[in-house]
This record gives sequence, structure tokens and C-alpha cells, in this order.
Amino acid sequence: MAASIDFLSNPIFISVITASFLLLLFHYIYNQPQQHGKKYHPTGASVFHLFINFKKMHHYMTDLATKYKTYRIFNPIHGAVYTSDPANVEYILKTNFKNYGKGEYTHSISSDLLGDGIFTVDGDQWREQRRVSSQEFSTKILRDSSSVIFRSNTIKLGKILSQAADSNQIIDINDLFMKATTDSIFKVGFGIDLDNLSGRNEEGVRFSHAFDDANNLLYTRFVDVSWKIKRFLNIGAEAELKKNMKIVDEFVYKVIQVKIEQMQKSKDESLVKKEDILSRFVQVNDKDPKYLRDIILNFVLAGKDPIAISMSWFIYMLCKHPEVQDKVAKEIIEATNMNEEITDVADFAACVSDGVLEKMQYLQAALTETIRLYPALPVDPKVCFSDDVLPDGCNVNKGDVVAYLPYAMGRMKFIWGDDALEFKPERWLDQDGRFHQESPFKFTAFQAGPRTCLGRDFAYRQLKIISSALLGCFVFKLSNENIDLQYRTSINIHVDGPLQVYVSRRSGF
Ligand code: HEM
Repeated sequence: MAASIDFLSNPIFISVITASFLLLLFHYIYNQPQQHGKKYHPTGASVFHLFINFKKMHHYMTDLATKYKTYRIFNPIHGAVYTSDPANVEYILKTNFKNYGKGEYTHSISSDLLGDGIFTVDGDQWREQRRVSSQEFSTKILRDSSSVIFRSNTIKLGKILSQAADSNQIIDINDLFMKATTDSIFKVGFGIDLDNLSGRNEEGVRFSHAFDDANNLLYTRFVDVSWKIKRFLNIGAEAELKKNMKIVDEFVYKVIQVKIEQMQKSKDESLVKKEDILSRFVQVNDKDPKYLRDIILNFVLAGKDPIAISMSWFIYMLCKHPEVQDKVAKEIIEATNMNEEITDVADFAACVSDGVLEKMQYLQAALTETIRLYPALPVDPKVCFSDDVLPDGCNVNKGDVVAYLPYAMGRMKFIWGDDALEFKPERWLDQDGRFHQESPFKFTAFQAGPRTCLGRDFAYRQLKIISSALLGCFVFKLSNENIDLQYRTSINIHVDGPLQVYVSRRSGF
């Protein structure tokens, strides 16, 4: 697979890394900041350990968080602090927001794919993109048109499931969710029918593969300290990344050209008003193709993987907990009044209006419980811009990477109680069975503070539309009930490999 971490098996590379690690460890110990009378978090491990534990990285970081709450990882290039302490998280994401940002560190790692998009920039550049995107997300037009698109893609998905149910075939539901959410974000974001679900648009399929591979390859830069050398020499993962980026860029620049031409031709104001996220940016910007390219790729990243990932883990959790699956389905059927024999996903999708979705409090709780245990972004690093002291009294230095850990935090007993590792949607419901929010500094899956996820409501609406139509019509079962599904270490917490399930038609309650 393109994303394979080829460098792990290369003996020359390992020797170089080991030698530099030892040299720099010596340098680090000699210059330990504790020597200057300041208090620092304990060093839990080195980047070398992360490298060795790459496949189980989030388990490894969770174990360290259980032991230390907040710890340092020795890194020869920069200081690195990892925290699962809600007080520290609130401080870096809100109280002293201006002192923590993407910085040159994130920008340099991500910019080949994400350019100067909202995920990689700070200051005025970020503020402007946030402003335009927030306006777009708050419009009724986007809300209504996106719901129509989510329903229509869910119906397409439902047709594929119906065929599988009729022929008792195993399907890879993870692959289908990735295709469906890619189709949805392209339509909502840029007004384009990519049609990955049917696979008929070859160019679209090629783009999607190249984008996913580029995203995975980029992530290895967080643990591969030699990536810049490899990029310079154009070898290994970096050479592959370059090839993928060529495909991605060619496709996106074509999309932009078409969009600008369409908008120039369209003299009809009412058409302009109906348009997508990209059109909004074309309207406010000087149509700089590079700026628009960055916007597109950041929204693709934001809009497709987190939804597909959350849906896959959700179906997996429901298969592992059939009693929760039954409860979710029962609520859906009651909320939609679809009591008779259910035959058609389209009928279901048609009746999941906003009002009906609002009634599904248990579904909201079960989705949120899944996201607590499998947050789409498991580790979120920031850069400290000037020396600081965190609420726990420990110092961080200018240039240190300070990351909060949504995956580890979702599993901490000191945050969730002794049953932290259990899948219990009820923990999100109050006495009246209504969903209640937790502090965003404890439940950090959507970030918090001024840079909190802009697509949260949009995400829940999409997740609820897909879930209600599919779970109202079908029963899901793992093809291998003993499977213990693992994640693939990457920027997002993808399931590792296919998620193979049987579906059968639900026959009501
Ligand atoms: C379950 C689904 C989702 C989860 C768990 C999630 C989580 C997050 C997280 C953790 C961040 C902070 C990332 C960072 O540090 O840069 C973020 C930011 C963002 N998200 Fe989401 N997200 C989800 C869905 C979406 C969707 C569907 C969209 C839009 C189509 C979206 C749009 C954004 C944007 C634009 C930002 C950048 C905010 C900023 O930097 O000001 N998200 N999201």
C-alpha cells in the first residue's frame, strides 16, 4: 500500500536514526531544562519509542497518559509535551489561545497537501478563512441543500445494501462510507458530482485514492525526523507523496477553472445565492487558484474522513453491542413512525427531517459515545509561541509542540469514571433521556475554544441521516464476530483494513 512506512525496514535509515538519536539524547540530557530551576513534565518516552510503537501509537500514548496525565516525549528537533489534563487543554485552546497555534512546524509538515488552508495557518490568514466559512456554515441554504445531498447519497448507499441483503453477500461498509462521504463533501463543498459510490467517474476515483494516500504519507512526517532529506532526495515515501500530489493538484485546478467559468457565465443572482462553499470563497476572493485549491483540499480533509471514520466505528460498536443496535433502531422506528414492514431506504430517508432527527436522543448519545472512544483526530498538536507555564505548574518553552490527546482522554478513568473503557451511550443521557453535552475540555474530539470544529452540527446531521436510514432498514452483523478491529495509525483514526459485514432487512419491532 502507498502509505506503508517503508523507512521502518530500511537498515541504513535505522542506523542513521539511532546514531542521531544517541547524539541528540546526550545533547538533551546535557542541556536539560530542569537544570535552570524550572519545573517540567516528566519525560515519558522518546520519539524513537513512538517510531517503534507506530502501529499501536495511540495505545502507547494512552498508557503514558494513564501514568503521567501530561508528559514530555524526547524529540531531537523540538520539545514535545502531550497532555490529557482538561485544565491544561482549556488553557492552550482557550485561556491563552493566542500563544498556541499551528506554527511553522505544522505548516511545513502539511503544506504540500493543505497549502495555506484553514488547518495549517494562524493569525489573519486563519481569521479570514474562519469568518467566511462560519458565514457559509450558518446559512439555511447550506443546511437545507446539504440535507438533501446527505439523503440522496444515503439512498444510493441503501440500494447497495439492499442488493447485498438479497444475495446474502458480505460487504466492506468502511469502503462504502468513504465513497459516500467523499461524494457528499464534493457536492456540498464544490457543487460537483464525483460519484465515487458508482465508481463511474474514473478521474474522481483516481483523485480520491491519491488524496487518501497523500494524507497517510504526510502523517509519517510527524515521526520520521529525516523526511526533509528524503524530500530533497525525492526517495521513499516522499517520492510517492510527490506523485500523488501531482494527481491531486491536476484534478483540483480543473475543478477551480470550471467553477470560475461557471460563475462568470452566471448573471443570475438567484443562482449565485444557491451555491456551495467554494463559490462563497470565489465571491470574496480574487479568484487566486492556489488560494482556492487550498480551501478545497482543507474542506475535503475536514468533511469526508471524520464522518466515514465515525460511521465505521459506530457500525462496529453496534455489531459488538447488539442490544445497543436494537435500542437505536427502535428509537429510529418510533421517531419516524415507520412501524410496518420496512422495504425502502428512500422512504426512510424521506422522513428524517430535522424535527425527526431531533427526537433521536439515544442515537445522538450512541454516536457521541463512539466518537469519545474513536475521535477522528486522535492527537492534535499545537506549537507554543512563547515561554509559558501550564495550569499544572509545569513550564513549556517557545517552540515546544504541545499536543492534547482526544483518544487518550476518551479512555481516562479520572475523566469518565471506572467504566471509561466501556461503550455506554447512557452516560450521555440525563434522567429524562435527553442528550447532555460534556465540557469540550474533557470531550475534546471536536477541539474547543476559538478554533473549535466548524462542522460539528453539519457532521452530526450527516451522521444521523445516514444512521437512521440504514439502521431503520437493516440489521448489521460482522462477517467475523470474533474480530478485534484495530486502527491504522494516521492523521485520522481509520479502521485498519475492511469492515466486513452482513446486512439483513429489518422486519420491524
Ligand atoms: C465526526 C466528525 C468531525 C470531527 C470529530 C471533527 C473534529 C475536528 C477537530 C478536532 C478540529 C480541530 C483540528 C485542528 O486542530 O486543526 C476540527 C476543525 C475543523 N473542522 Fe471538524 N470534525 C468533524 C467533522 C467536520 C466536518 C463534516 C466539517 C466540514 C465539512 C468540519 C470542518 C472543520 C473545520 C473547517 C475546522 C477548522 C476550524 C479552525 O481551524 O478554525 N469538521 N474538526
